Amino acid sequence: MSADTQKRAAAEFALKLVEAGRSIGLGTGSTANYFIEAAAAKVKREKLDTKFVPTSQATYALAQKLGLNLVTIEEAPFLDATIDGCDEFDGKFRLIKGGGGALHREKLVASSSKFMITICDASKQVETLGAFPLPIEVSKFGVNATAWKIERALVHLGYKDKKMRLRTTKEGTPFVTESGNPIIDLMLDKIDQPEQLDGILNNTPGVIETGLFIGICGIVIMGTDKGVVELTRA
Ligand code: A5P
Repeated sequence: MSADTQKRAAAEFALKLVEAGRSIGLGTGSTANYFIEAAAAKVKREKLDTKFVPTSQATYALAQKLGLNLVTIEEAPFLDATIDGCDEFDGKFRLIKGGGGALHREKLVASSSKFMITICDASKQVETLGAFPLPIEVSKFGVNATAWKIERALVHLGYKDKKMRLRTTKEGTPFVTESGNPIIDLMLDKIDQPEQLDGILNNTPGVIETGLFIGICGIVIMGTDKGVVELTRA
């Protein structure tokens, strides 16, 4: 079964969370898109009044095109649930997100929800986080100054000789998020102590958001070759 089929199956499984009267955060990425499509069909079929908060312009555009009732995070600051994809998750439901660059809004919306549910294909499950480059959204002002502070912190934490790079677009121009900020991707291979790394990065001036989602996700819905698996954090 392809990764896309698994993503779609996970997204459809998560549809049970779409109910009348609820407000739901919509993540960003290909798996979130499958969820948006399925949610739009359910809302239309069952004439639900569910409200949705998008985490990016791409998600907004798709959800609006499909007729979902969209509100902003300012209008709905306390959400019932957020459904989003991930780049990696481990056994403690710690995630790496931000492959698509939407980490800041995704974290803001997810952490404003009673539950964050991540939907994914089986390739996203890992023993140890870090094979996927860890995105760090940083201030445009002083980007090089922030980069060397991050590098110094990594050396201090024992991540010697690890690479970091300023994210660029396919065209080779600097990538900026929807908030206008660059992203530095950290190639760490293995993150043995995600909480420690996250704490230090979050205390580094210039860092706006890390792609580590710790203590935010409570449920993982994962498509596998044998069907959809739902995992709940203890
Ligand atoms: C967007 O910034 C990311 O956090 C995505 O949610 C993540 O990259 C998962 O993407 P896919 O669903 O496309 O695999």
